[in-house]
Amino acid sequence: MAIEGIDLTSMRSMVEEFPKLLGRILPDETLQTKLHKIELDKISGVCMIGMGGSAIAGRLCASLLLESANKPLISVQDYHVPSFLDSNWIVIATSYSGNTEETLSAVQEAIQKGCMTFGITTGGRLSQLIDTQNIARVPEGFQPRAALPILFSMQLSMLEALLRKSSTDLTSIGKKIELASKEWDTHMISPAELAQSLRNKIPLFIGSHFTEGIAYRAKCQVNENAKSAAFFAVLPEANHNEIESIADFKSAKIQPIFIRSLTESSRVKLRIEATTSIYEEEMDSCIHLQVKADSAAEELLQLVFYLDLLSLEMAVLRNVDPVGVERISKLKKILSSN
Ligand code: PA5
Repeated sequence: MAIEGIDLTSMRSMVEEFPKLLGRILPDETLQTKLHKIELDKISGVCMIGMGGSAIAGRLCASLLLESANKPLISVQDYHVPSFLDSNWIVIATSYSGNTEETLSAVQEAIQKGCMTFGITTGGRLSQLIDTQNIARVPEGFQPRAALPILFSMQLSMLEALLRKSSTDLTSIGKKIELASKEWDTHMISPAELAQSLRNKIPLFIGSHFTEGIAYRAKCQVNENAKSAAFFAVLPEANHNEIESIADFKSAKIQPIFIRSLTESSRVKLRIEATTSIYEEEMDSCIHLQVKADSAAEELLQLVFYLDLLSLEMAVLRNVDPVGVERISKLKKILSSN
């Protein structure tokens, strides 16, 4: 399975296709029907397993379905699944390569516990552990983190089928995001300008509630693509600890970036504004990122796309290759040979 028109050796080529990849590859009908037939009242929840670039789709889907899911959605980024998992839990494991040891270990545990287990992967050992008809296959050749629009489309469709939610029209959302991105320059700082203003600084992405997964994704993308330190924090929790550390932000060159959402409650809005004013007493100005969107899904995906591009612009300024993940590969090699 290949996708024409994408240069898989170029992170920019992969990331720029983000909007067009949304909704382009979906689970086949047999898999959708199978998920749809699972008796909802007999399941306790859905456990999503994955690491790194393959974990993000699950976290973002959980954010999106936070207010409407009628079952708990949990993310496991570890070797083990929680002890409370039993055969009433559905598992969706994502590993782009299909060979990530933590994911394989957690999946083996889930299968031993009798969980009905589905996989999203290009193949690898994951596809040997899970029944073929429970596998949603994705095209090979991407960097896992750049395959997010594909992994996300698969995962959201599977969750929507399982939870009997009407399906989100990701293709239309992709088109809207493409148009919206052409107008970023007119009402907000562009990814390239933001990257310039982050020169020699360490971004701290601050999310809240719905935007937590976006802040986490941004931190990971800046780490992996720009090979730069980056952190993420979540409100309201960070107001109960991190706020006391801001005297160090200026000398440590930490730049807070608040990820704003149209879904923010008035309380959270007030909290972000108050937090900003306290931070700005001790450092230069905080940055707030907000996009224009018609739905929560569009907002979430547009912000992710924007921040993915930011990580590429930072890579350009830092003169690093966003594709290579030398240290991740080195560590995986050490672990697999022992
Ligand atoms: O983006 C990456 O390359 C990593 O974060 C990988 O996604 C991570 O190491 C897990 O590998 P995989 O996605 O193949 O399971």
